[in-house]
Amino acid sequence: MLSVKHLTREFISGDTKVTAIDNISFSIPQGSFTSIVGKSGSGKTTLLNLLGALDKPTSGSIVVDDQDVTKLNGSALTRYRGRYIGFVFQNYNLIPNLTALENVMLPLGFMGEKANARKQRAAELLEAVGLNSDQMQRKPGKLSGGQQQRVAIARALANRPSLILADEPTGNLDSETGRMIFKLLHDLTRTEKTTIIVVTHDLSIAGKTDTTYKLQDGKIIK
Ligand SMILES: Nc1ncnc2c1ncn2[C@@H]1O[C@H](COP(=O)(O)OP(=O)(O)OP(=O)(O)O)[C@@H](O)[C@H]1O
Ligand SMILES: [Mg+2]
Repeated sequence: MLSVKHLTREFISGDTKVTAIDNISFSIPQGSFTSIVGKSGSGKTTLLNLLGALDKPTSGSIVVDDQDVTKLNGSALTRYRGRYIGFVFQNYNLIPNLTALENVMLPLGFMGEKANARKQRAAELLEAVGLNSDQMQRKPGKLSGGQQQRVAIARALANRPSLILADEPTGNLDSETGRMIFKLLHDLTRTEKTTIIVVTHDLSIAGKTDTTYKLQDGKIIK
């Protein structure tokens, strides 16, 4: 269970104040699939960053399994991000001088798994998102945008996170590959009870999730 209460995030630059998230409250049960839609600038990435504890709110709380993650610091914060969350960034954030395989292996290193087991799990995940063994050995700069996006998805799944936060995970994919990725994520909610929150502009995805929230000027309007 993830419970957001009176969450607000203001940004101040110079003498202008932007309320990117404006007093939002909602709850999401474990194992559910939620989509977040809304216009550019409506606050979607800001909300995802707060849920993933990559950013701190101006006020409000985010309670995950009885723990307010907005209050986490130091090693507890690192543990929450590293073990509990799988994050797919809007701009992928792959490490340019590591191969696709090494990018996916990276979070497994923090879990203390042996190199061979990490390599095998990373290869399985990359295969599941549709990359072949030649593509796995390439660095992100030598992959297409959609292939990089799928590496980012595989990396987010590597630690078997309880919560996957994905910012436009199919934004660079053709509709068939997008459907394949949606099915992969959807299966995880059933087989692993993974909670998934995706930001998407793709109405064919938003229409198939358990819940859809629409953001407008930092507020949930439906
Ligand atoms: N670090 C920041 N400093 C100042 N303003 C910010 C910052 N980050 C975001 N904003 C502002 O907060 C609002 C919400 O931004 P956000 O990135 O969450 O939008 P979004 O819904 O993800 O948009 P998009 O669909 O274009 O990715 C925007 O007005 C944006 O300019
Ligand atoms: Mg965004």
